[in-house]
Amino acid sequence: MPKIIKIALKIKTDKSYNIVLGNNILTDLGREIKKLKCGNSIFIITDKNVAKLYLKKTLSALKNGGFSDIGKVIIPAGEEQKNYKTFLKLLNALYDFDKNQQKKVILLTLGGGVTGDLGGFVASTYRRGVNYIQVPTTLLGLVDCGLGGKTAFNFREAKNLIGAFWQPKMVYMDTAVLKTLPLRELKCGLAEAIKYGIIKDKPLFTFFEKNMGQLLKYDKTALDKMIPVCAGIKARITSADERDDKDIRIILNYGHTLGHAIEAATNYKKFHHGEAVAIGMVLAAKLAVKLGCLCGCEAFRIEALLKKAGLPTSVQGIAPGKILASMKRDKKFVSGVNRFVLPVEIGRVKVFENIPEKLILSTFV
Ligand SMILES: NC(=O)c1ccc[n+]([C@@H]2O[C@H](COP(=O)([O-])OP(=O)(O)OC[C@H]3O[C@@H](n4cnc5c(N)ncnc54)[C@H](O)[C@@H]3O)[C@@H](O)[C@H]2O)c1
Repeated sequence: MPKIIKIALKIKTDKSYNIVLGNNILTDLGREIKKLKCGNSIFIITDKNVAKLYLKKTLSALKNGGFSDIGKVIIPAGEEQKNYKTFLKLLNALYDFDKNQQKKVILLTLGGGVTGDLGGFVASTYRRGVNYIQVPTTLLGLVDCGLGGKTAFNFREAKNLIGAFWQPKMVYMDTAVLKTLPLRELKCGLAEAIKYGIIKDKPLFTFFEKNMGQLLKYDKTALDKMIPVCAGIKARITSADERDDKDIRIILNYGHTLGHAIEAATNYKKFHHGEAVAIGMVLAAKLAVKLGCLCGCEAFRIEALLKKAGLPTSVQGIAPGKILASMKRDKKFVSGVNRFVLPVEIGRVKVFENIPEKLILSTFV
């Protein structure tokens, strides 16, 4: 008989953190980090576009907060960077900064979701995990990927396949950075923001229908109203299901099963993440109509709103077989059985399993 030695691991740890949200608050970043008492050296991970605009300001904010030992690494911008090569590059740069291995390093990710996801994963792996702060600079980052602790990079045809759950110590959101965000990226952020309306909040969806014109003009009042609502929904969902294993967090994946597959099938070159998700949301709504669980008029409203936001809504020009092949790599699928988050009305979604491939394909036309 084998001898069994049990390792009891009933761990209860408090991983709570604050989202600090305001306009023109970047100058206070160093002082806010200092208050956390979670390290004395800071290593910034950012991309070229963001560095040009905000690195200097960030460095002086950190110095004003009392940090003098600061390192940095700048990566090229774009989803194509979200791979193991960049991951290794980041690790090497961090290793060089932390040469004597005696620093209590805080990682600071300054940028959009690519920087945040990659940088967060570096934080989760370096020395088996170091503290990190997210400073999202895209709308998509402010409403979604800056919070929740999902970190990852893409691997072969699988989006976000390699990753970890690693919670930041703080998410610091300065909405003033949106002023410099290209319109295409603003629209991508709107796609994920609209998602919250569809999965959880009908009044928010109606708000988007009424205020899309203002939002597309970067109207501060409209943005300031919408961002905390979206971030609040994400915060509540991720608090209830940190590791995506309770069938709560899964609803955030609405539009992402096909969205991720579309991104991967086009080598992360044709669509930006928010655009692929917009298409994925329309296809998922069409699928829901075909399954008889969503009224055609609601699917029409979803598509019309995404079009109003200037987002793509169809997959023309991409081989359906390629999309399906990438889709099969979706992390939600269990033992080859597909799982889709589909709307049953605006403001409410459900998880559906084992949907025939033929039906999925029929939404592509
Ligand atoms: N971890 C999560 O929970 C989660 C959730 C949703 C999406 N994501 C991931 O997020 C990524 C998409 O994020 P994204 O849309 O922020 O993309 P991104 O990081 O590629 O940023 C988009 C572009 O905007 C530029 N940019 C960023 N901030 C700017 C600013 N203030 N002014 C001017 N230019 C600026 C960047 O340099 C880049 O060119 C995807 O990889 C997706 O998988 C993660």
